[in-house]
Amino acid sequence: MVTFFVLTLFFLLGSSASTSLIGDFHALITLKQGFESPEPDLSTWSSSNLTSVCSWVGVKCFKGRVASLDLSDMNLYGSVSSVFSSLDKLVELSLAGNNFIGEIKIGNLSSLRSLNISNNQFYGGLDWDYSSLKDLEVFDAYNNNFTASLPLGISSLKKLRHLDLGGNYFFGEIPESYGNLIALEYLLLMGNDLKGKIPSELGNLTNLKHIRVGVLQCVFEGGIPREFGKLVNLVHMDISKCELDSSIPRELGNLNSLETLYLHTNLLSSSIPKQLGNLTSLVNLDLSNNALTGEVPYELVSLKQLKLLNLFMNQLHGYIPDVVADFPNLETLQLWMNNFTGMIPKNLGQNGNLQDLDLSSNKLTGTIPQNLCASGHLRILILLKNFLFGSIPENLGNCSSLVRVRLGQNYLNGSIPSGFIYLPQLNLVELQDNYLAGTLSENVDATSKPDKLSELNLSNNLLSGNWKLFPSHIPRLEQKHHLSNSIPPEISKTRILNYLNLSRNHFNETIPKSIGSMKSLTIADFSFNDLSGNLPETGQFSFFNASSFAGNPQLCGSLLNNPCNVPTTTKTPKKASGDFKLVFALGLLICFLVFAAAAIIKAKSFKKSSGSSSSWKMTAFKKVEFTVSEVLECMKNGNVIGRGGAGIVYHDKMPSGTEIAVKKLLGFGPNSHDHGFQAEIRTLGNIRHRNIVRLLAFCSNKETNLLVYEYMRNGSLGEALHGKKGSFLGWHLRYKIALEAARGLCYLHHDCSPLIVHRDVKSNNILLNSNFEAHVADFGLAKFLGDGGASQCMSAVAGSYGYIAPEYAYTLRVDEKSDVYSFGVVLLELIHRATSGGRIWGRHRYCTMD
Ligand SMILES: *[C@@H]1O[C@H](CO)[C@@H](O)[C@H](O)[C@H]1NC(C)=O
Ligand SMILES: *[C@@H]1O[C@H](CO)[C@@H](O)[C@H](O)[C@H]1NC(C)=O
Ligand SMILES: *[C@@H]1O[C@H](CO)[C@@H](O)[C@H](O)[C@H]1NC(C)=O
Ligand SMILES: *[C@@H]1O[C@H](CO)[C@@H](O)[C@H](O)[C@H]1NC(C)=O
Ligand SMILES: *[C@@H]1O[C@H](CO)[C@@H](O)[C@H](O)[C@H]1NC(C)=O
Ligand SMILES: *[C@@H]1O[C@H](CO)[C@@H](O)[C@H](O)[C@H]1NC(C)=O
Ligand SMILES: *[C@@H]1O[C@H](CO)[C@@H](O)[C@H](O)[C@H]1NC(C)=O
Ligand SMILES: *[C@@H]1O[C@H](CO)[C@@H](O)[C@H](O)[C@H]1NC(C)=O
Ligand SMILES: *[C@@H]1O[C@H](CO)[C@@H](O)[C@H](O)[C@H]1NC(C)=O
Ligand SMILES: *[C@@H]1O[C@H](CO)[C@@H](O)[C@H](O)[C@H]1NC(C)=O
Ligand SMILES: *[C@@H]1O[C@H](CO)[C@@H](O)[C@H](O)[C@H]1NC(C)=O
Ligand SMILES: *[C@@H]1O[C@H](CO)[C@@H](O)[C@H](O)[C@H]1NC(C)=O
Repeated sequence: MVTFFVLTLFFLLGSSASTSLIGDFHALITLKQGFESPEPDLSTWSSSNLTSVCSWVGVKCFKGRVASLDLSDMNLYGSVSSVFSSLDKLVELSLAGNNFIGEIKIGNLSSLRSLNISNNQFYGGLDWDYSSLKDLEVFDAYNNNFTASLPLGISSLKKLRHLDLGGNYFFGEIPESYGNLIALEYLLLMGNDLKGKIPSELGNLTNLKHIRVGVLQCVFEGGIPREFGKLVNLVHMDISKCELDSSIPRELGNLNSLETLYLHTNLLSSSIPKQLGNLTSLVNLDLSNNALTGEVPYELVSLKQLKLLNLFMNQLHGYIPDVVADFPNLETLQLWMNNFTGMIPKNLGQNGNLQDLDLSSNKLTGTIPQNLCASGHLRILILLKNFLFGSIPENLGNCSSLVRVRLGQNYLNGSIPSGFIYLPQLNLVELQDNYLAGTLSENVDATSKPDKLSELNLSNNLLSGNWKLFPSHIPRLEQKHHLSNSIPPEISKTRILNYLNLSRNHFNETIPKSIGSMKSLTIADFSFNDLSGNLPETGQFSFFNASSFAGNPQLCGSLLNNPCNVPTTTKTPKKASGDFKLVFALGLLICFLVFAAAAIIKAKSFKKSSGSSSSWKMTAFKKVEFTVSEVLECMKNGNVIGRGGAGIVYHDKMPSGTEIAVKKLLGFGPNSHDHGFQAEIRTLGNIRHRNIVRLLAFCSNKETNLLVYEYMRNGSLGEALHGKKGSFLGWHLRYKIALEAARGLCYLHHDCSPLIVHRDVKSNNILLNSNFEAHVADFGLAKFLGDGGASQCMSAVAGSYGYIAPEYAYTLRVDEKSDVYSFGVVLLELIHRATSGGRIWGRHRYCTMD
């Protein structure tokens, strides 16, 4: 207390205001005035109490002066005035993870060691007077809007250890003088618009541990400088997606600390240098998507630590070295689209860690190794388009981790392992164009249901049998007594089989009517089998055409121009269709009841929840300044700003000043509260990109899910284009919006983990913030809606008509290409410029729906 007093007195009497705690106080108050909506967090920043500066939130003092200012992740808005230079004892300054805009200039901070301005929207350049920041060790400007050439002055920072200028729009070349940053350990320049050569001077940075210069728009002429062989402390090197040409320098073999080497998606040619075999610490090696030739050098057998080995899309040939199979940690092996010959190493999988295996489109022969799934973690097994023969290993029948299996276009014989097509995680099974024979086994393990299977291609094999047994997971709706007793429990199960091709086999007996209830089944092919009996004509069957059943002479029905003979037909088909009508009516009734029940429960829960928010749980993905009850409070009718297939959207300003948009998800059954859903939402919450709407938090109770987003002041692109204010978007702005939306989408498709397919790209899902910067919204949600319980009754198609790629509408198979198609429609909309896009979209809709 006494010292405080003395100090204060000293300040008041003595030193000049600009170099004292008083100076710091004024600087901070000025700084705060630049913020747009002050957070309660900064309420401790009181302009009336000068002596409290050191106890302010985010402020730390040392020897009576402000030494550290940490405002990271406080959700602050506004601009930052250049007051920092009077905080001349500042050692650490972090403004990271806010929404600051404007230019920023930092200088005259001779004590500053760490500066973090990442994840904001600062623009302009970074050409500061770095000679006044000579102690700087850490400089993080990642993910801003800087548009300039890389600052030259930085190269005078002899103590700089960490430099991150990634995720901006820096253009031009990497300055040679960056080779003078001798203390540098981290050099991160990825995701800019850099061009030119990678300067060989960077090879002088012998303390470097981590270098990432690739990804996105960079175009580097020439190759990787040989001098990089001097970076002996390097642990992580990522120079991917850069149009690098020439060969991989053999000097890289000197980098014996290297754990990760990513050179994928370049134009690298000639062979893989055998010196890479010296990189014995290597864990991840990705040289895929280049133009590499020759064989895999034998020396790579020393890379015993490898977890990931990707060499796909090159022109490699020769054998796959057997020892690869013995790498104890190998998880991912992708060698597809090369010219590899010989056998698949027979010990592959025995290490107990294999997860992803893709050797497709090579010239491999021999049999499929026996122990691929010894790990119990094998998810992806793709051996498509080779010359493999023999049978599918029986033990794959209980490899319950499998998600994608593509073994088509080989010479496989024998039967399909028992249980195989019922594995619970399976999404895609392609076994077409082989010599598989025998019957399809019945599902013996009742707990294992292929609920996720969306495509099954067994065409062109020798399969046979009474295949009525096959779809045993389909509810037996045709059994009347079931319906009269109780609703079959399976009805709530989602089935998403979209594509079923059984053509050119020997399946016999009748086609099960229950297929008709599989509403997502849009393509089925039963042609050229030995099927007989009546062809059902109700339900999904009404969508199939005659060619789906061609080549089954004993099959009869009006569709086939082969009426069933009189004595049997008069009775059975009528009965069948009668049954089916009943089933349908009941189905609708059930759907209706489910809706009604859900509505009642929801109404109840809302009453309850407005009384107490105790049952609500909030998961925040960043530091948020609002509570669950404040979020609930905002959900009143006056605050509705939108309604859509996905739910109702509310907007409100929180007491703290933050503006949020709350989306209440509709059509979710209790099933959606499982961990899978929560985990997926969490994934969405962790995505941060300049052109993607941030998910701030997720609130749920037993009945309702709320997604809390950052608010986008200028609404959706759809409104901007077609709404009242329509015509004000100039060409330049439209171009910018297109570019930004593409960046957001591109990030979802290529750079985030796991990769996300949006599934509902449209102008109404591209939102504009106060600066008209485009943000992609609502990604990943359509999937839940498509799969989630009640909405199944309405439509199996997720996505919006007019934007859906034709093949998606038909097959319900989604991948990033269907997003790209939808994005193309958005582009047309942007170009078309008219405020009423009705005509062109009308026509378009006709096309896709037809
Ligand atoms: C000013 O702040 C100091 C330190 O936080 C505190 O002890 C003191 O009571 C405050 N004075 C007033 C007038 O609020
Ligand atoms: C900068 O701040 C962000 C957000 O707080 C943090 O994630 C990042 O690690 C910091 N950068 C450095 C180099 O410490
Ligand atoms: C640093 O100090 C000089 C001289 O006092 C001043 O001209 C300059 O504007 C200051 N730089 C910054 C970034 O505040
Ligand atoms: C990004 O920088 C450009 C050019 O400097 C500017 O026109 C644009 O408004 C900035 N965007 C944001 C969101 O600040
Ligand atoms: C840095 O590298 C360049 C070219 O690689 C070389 O000419 C120069 O002498 C090196 N400088 C130092 C200080 O080592
Ligand atoms: C690196 O590899 C080459 C060729 O494979 C070999 O001759 C050399 O001895 C290795 N160097 C070291 C340091 O292991
Ligand atoms: C494989 O080899 C054939 C013939 O040598 C060649 O035409 C083809 O382009 C090669 N394919 C790949 C992916 O390298
Ligand atoms: C498959 O079943 C066999 C025998 O029942 C068992 O030894 C093996 O561990 C199982 N494999 C997996 C992946 O569950
Ligand atoms: C599968 O093919 C192999 C080699 O062509 C043959 O030896 C084997 O008997 C065949 N197995 C069956 C079940 O037909
Ligand atoms: C299924 O296999 C057949 C035969 O190779 C092929 O024509 C068809 O396109 C495949 N279906 C899908 C969806 O890939
Ligand atoms: C099913 O597979 C056969 C080849 O066996 C192919 O000709 C046919 O086009 C496929 N049917 C569909 C609908 O894809
Ligand atoms: C259908 O095929 C199975 C297996 O090949 C055979 O056992 C059964 O008798 C066949 N049924 C008819 C009606 O041909």
